[in-house]
Amino acid sequence: MNFYCFKSRSVFLIGFGIGFLLALFLLVAQHVFNCTSACQRTSLNHFSASRSALLKWFTSDTRTDKKPIFQIWKEFTNLTYDVWLKNKKLRLSDFDIDAYLYGPEIKKESEANWLKSHVHITCAVFVKKIKLAKAIQDTWGKHCNKIYFFGQEKSPKVSIVNFEIKLVSSWQLLCEAFNYIWRDNKDLEWLIFVKDDTLVIPENLRYMVGPLNHTRNYYLGHTVILWGQPYNVADAGYVISMGTLKKLINKFDNSEKCRTGGKYWKQEDYYLAKHLATMEIYPSDTRDQYFRGTFHGYPLQSLLWGVVKTGVYWTRAVYPIKNECCSFASVTFNVGEPDRMYTWNYLLYYFHVLKRKAMFGSIKAATSEFDQDVWKTALKEEFNITYSNNISSDAYYQIWHSKYSEPGQFIRKNDHIKDTDFSD
Ligand SMILES: *[C@@H]1O[C@H](CO)[C@@H](O)[C@H](O)[C@H]1NC(C)=O
Ligand SMILES: *[C@@H]1O[C@H](CO)[C@@H](O)[C@H](O)[C@H]1NC(C)=O
Ligand SMILES: *[C@@H]1O[C@H](CO)[C@@H](O)[C@H](O)[C@H]1NC(C)=O
Ligand SMILES: *[C@@H]1O[C@H](CO)[C@@H](O)[C@H](O)[C@H]1NC(C)=O
Repeated sequence: MNFYCFKSRSVFLIGFGIGFLLALFLLVAQHVFNCTSACQRTSLNHFSASRSALLKWFTSDTRTDKKPIFQIWKEFTNLTYDVWLKNKKLRLSDFDIDAYLYGPEIKKESEANWLKSHVHITCAVFVKKIKLAKAIQDTWGKHCNKIYFFGQEKSPKVSIVNFEIKLVSSWQLLCEAFNYIWRDNKDLEWLIFVKDDTLVIPENLRYMVGPLNHTRNYYLGHTVILWGQPYNVADAGYVISMGTLKKLINKFDNSEKCRTGGKYWKQEDYYLAKHLATMEIYPSDTRDQYFRGTFHGYPLQSLLWGVVKTGVYWTRAVYPIKNECCSFASVTFNVGEPDRMYTWNYLLYYFHVLKRKAMFGSIKAATSEFDQDVWKTALKEEFNITYSNNISSDAYYQIWHSKYSEPGQFIRKNDHIKDTDFSD
């Protein structure tokens, strides 16, 4: 595989984006992304121990060109993403990213666009801060096929679904959200539920669930086990398939059932797993082939440089993260603040580096003249001399010198012309 041949594949783009991001963070981490509380608990020893391993990872090209293969594919289907595409009679081909961005319109459909119309992702965000909801709406929210905001807040800028009932638990809110989406949206395949401080990369979720059958039962996220119950933690966001939603709705199809289905606040993720377990639906392994995670309840900054892994998130992880922190096809990160949401968005979706030999962007500007003919044109324009094939260097110099005693005169004259043109 030619590393320089930039792929159009969204997944690769995102992978590349994240890879690049990581490298960028290495340089500017302290400035761009401030630590959150998790990171302030950093132990310096841990920091320096992991540092050299990470540096090695950042500066190595191995693993960046391998497509992620998820454990969940092995568990549920014999398909990989590539085989799944092939079965759909689709063929992937590489094309130059410069040509794609700046060249003439291409007839091929980009992989990301095709995926968006064939793997339907519904996003649901639980809102506490309007500013975060607005940031999501402006950024990654656009990449979902459909997005819902649920919460108690009201805002003219973001349309937030506010259930006009007294909620007794966060499970009740989640359960009402299931029902709302079920009634509102006939086009459901995959649903991701996140808090408003989370960044989602829907393209990578499509890549992950593409080979899976959404009418079957899936429950994906970062899994920990507590009181004997494995569940996907809300901080990292979790995904359910249409098949799973259908079963949930069968059991919780009205507000009364939602109300009695759970107690307490902030336990909805646990209750969800408990109810799903009664239907024999359990969390799956969302790590990639290197056992790197894809759903992250922490900011990338903390994951890379300073989480003390003593919390339940780590110690009770059912599918522990090995090797480097994050899969190149990661689906969620905690970001915390709206400005970071926008920064991520810029880096993931807009930023790119022209560092390769390429068709556009890094070639010389088109010119109608060959270099060796430029002096002839100058003679013609300046002195109306066309018999120039046999002119000697001395003669050439004399011709110019007869009109301009020093180069400065010529420059001043042409500056004047430019000024005049400009003021027209
Ligand atoms: C995958 O293929 C193997 C043999 O080809 C078969 O035994 C297994 O049941 C298949 N698994 C699934 C999930 O289809
Ligand atoms: C998806 O699963 C359903 C059963 O849940 C089955 O009827 C259907 O054929 C499957 N679709 C594909 C594309 O495998
Ligand atoms: C340039 O020279 C040609 C003859 O070589 C003449 O016919 C023409 O009028 C000249 N043009 C100017 C602008 O002096
Ligand atoms: C150059 O060629 C032109 C005709 O092409 C001729 O008139 C002129 O005398 C020549 N000059 C020299 C220096 O040979």
